[in-house]
Amino acid sequence: MVLQTKDLSVGYGKHEILNRVNLNFANNTITALVGPSGSGKSTFLRTLNRMNDSIKDYWHNGQVLLDNEEIFDPDIDLISLRRKVGMVFQRPNPFPMSIANNVAIGIKTHKLANKKQTGFLVEKFLTQVGLYKAVSNRLNDSPFKLSGGQQQLLCLARALAIGPEVLLLDEPTSSLDPQTTQAVENLVVDMAKEITVIIVTHNLAQARRIADFAAFFWDGKLMEYGRAAQVLEDPQNEITEKFVTGKLG
Ligand SMILES: Nc1ncnc2c1ncn2[C@@H]1O[C@H](COP(=O)(O)OP(=O)(O)OP(=O)(O)O)[C@@H](O)[C@H]1O
Ligand SMILES: [Mg+2]
Repeated sequence: MVLQTKDLSVGYGKHEILNRVNLNFANNTITALVGPSGSGKSTFLRTLNRMNDSIKDYWHNGQVLLDNEEIFDPDIDLISLRRKVGMVFQRPNPFPMSIANNVAIGIKTHKLANKKQTGFLVEKFLTQVGLYKAVSNRLNDSPFKLSGGQQQLLCLARALAIGPEVLLLDEPTSSLDPQTTQAVENLVVDMAKEITVIIVTHNLAQARRIADFAAFFWDGKLMEYGRAAQVLEDPQNEITEKFVTGKLG
């Protein structure tokens, strides 16, 4: 297992948001996290690379193990944790620097290549996400002139460029058109040959198309987990069944 949570509970102040979540993520798999709004999917995902740390009154109990190491261990270096566990958010958030530098920044920060190689890598990752052709003649322009979908592809390229072991995707296609969505789905499936992907999605058809495993969250609890086909098409839990058939709430 590359990543495991053991009895992970998370909350803000007096409010417990996640209750004793036990989940395992195996190498080279895609796991979809599904569930109604407010069920704790993003909170869970953000805990996996300690993105919630800076939120006031945030607390956790239980364990998160990355390659068998506790990520909340005081010895863990946050920068190297986030290099191993990358993240792409629902809304594209390019950095205020050139298109090329958005991809190069992680490579530079982590000293993954020399200057010349960095140029090649920028091209490689932009090509991998299918963006290179559209931006090759304006690599030094601002990313904010790109369309929303292109900005999201850029954020994916940025995340891939640091060579993560695990990629966390929080509704990455919710603002994309069907064609770009399909391109991202294909890319995610392709990426999972090398890395482990955990994706939050409200699109159950998408979860079914790309995920190996699915985890259904409900009110901060992991209600059902299993092979994506089983959870999404033949759920054993009554609440999961209501959710996947659109009868919840
Ligand atoms: N900073 C915060 N302080 C207090 N409560 C929070 C904070 N962030 C999230 N919550 C609460 O945690 C619960 C879970 O939120 P979360 O964003 O994880 O849900 P979600 O499953 O991702 O929902 P959605 O599908 O709408 O994105 C919600 O009740 C939310 O109000
Ligand atoms: Mg969310």
